[in-house]
Amino acid sequence: MTRRENALQPRAALEQIGRYHPGRKTPGKIKLSSNENPLGSSPVALKAIQNALGGLARYPNGSAPQLRSALADRFGVSCDEVLVGNGSDELMMLAAGAYVDPGTNAVIGEHTFSQYEFVTRLFGGEVRVAAMPDGCFNLEAMRQRVDGHTRLLFLCNPNNPTGRYIPERDLTEFLERLPKHVLVVLDEAYSEYAEAPDFPQGVSLLRRFANLVVLRTYSKIYGLAGLRVGYGFAHPEVIETLARVKQPFTVGNLGQAGALAALEDNDFIKRSLETNSAGKRYMYAELQRLRLSFYPTEANFLCIQLTASAEIAFEVLQYHGVTVRALGSFGLPHALRITVGTAEQNQMVVAGLEDLQRRME
Ligand SMILES: Cc1ncc(COP(=O)(O)O)c(C=O)c1O
Repeated sequence: MTRRENALQPRAALEQIGRYHPGRKTPGKIKLSSNENPLGSSPVALKAIQNALGGLARYPNGSAPQLRSALADRFGVSCDEVLVGNGSDELMMLAAGAYVDPGTNAVIGEHTFSQYEFVTRLFGGEVRVAAMPDGCFNLEAMRQRVDGHTRLLFLCNPNNPTGRYIPERDLTEFLERLPKHVLVVLDEAYSEYAEAPDFPQGVSLLRRFANLVVLRTYSKIYGLAGLRVGYGFAHPEVIETLARVKQPFTVGNLGQAGALAALEDNDFIKRSLETNSAGKRYMYAELQRLRLSFYPTEANFLCIQLTASAEIAFEVLQYHGVTVRALGSFGLPHALRITVGTAEQNQMVVAGLEDLQRRME
């Protein structure tokens, strides 16, 4: 008997998959590496979660009817166009689980969220990558990578980690020209932060495009990353297909209660937006003063290009008490992604970057 016959044999698809490396967390340092909300969580959500503790002996209603109905009302769609999941990560997994087979492919951008590649490979699909000059999706290059075997195409708007966005007109023209056998997964995890007047709301395009799924999350502006609730909108047929590959009881009771309440917490959303907007403007001015190159952002983070290696910059910022994200794993070895924090946290970042610039002179 050969050694191989004796050994456990993971699926061949796993040979191309590494472990996910989340934004680092260092004890005692301010964590600005995962684009979480620096104000914490929606207090209204926290109260609702506490009130729901008594119901934990019961399984949740896996179809989350109340939450889906509230989301449907808020976004002007019907309940059968909404699906909720264990973070929007789960919904990406469902998209791949429902549509990707070995021999098929998905098209993604070169510098974008790693889960798109991960879920595609997990189901044995080929990943086709289009370059992203200046941190923007090149929609024409993406379209050229589509063929008869393309099942999914992932867009992230605004994009993690560059913060750049696809304007409404470009998005609609792209969707009009794209073959209808391709399901476009439009990830809007950071869209609530967008300020550009021509930033598109994917949900408003659902009626025109039956091959579109729009993903949103409670992990960012609602400050509930640890709760694990994401939601998606799509044509009822697509929702039905995704639901068929879903585990029955994601999202849990606490997640449903917290998410439902958070949706009404306009005060927290307003404060989060104001903090981000003011922080963005402060950082823009300081980065310009330091002559550091960065992309304009529509999200709650900044992507900064350095002459130094990002790993060195990471260490200097650690020394100044903040943990940021070096973007080597996103294919950007000379770039950092830094979450916009509170005013005090942003000042710490600037002090660190100033020190870095001095050391590089
Ligand atoms: C672009 C993007 N989409 C989705 C997610 C994950 O969202 P969730 O926490 O809902 O799974 C993230 C998290 O960082 C992200 O950056």
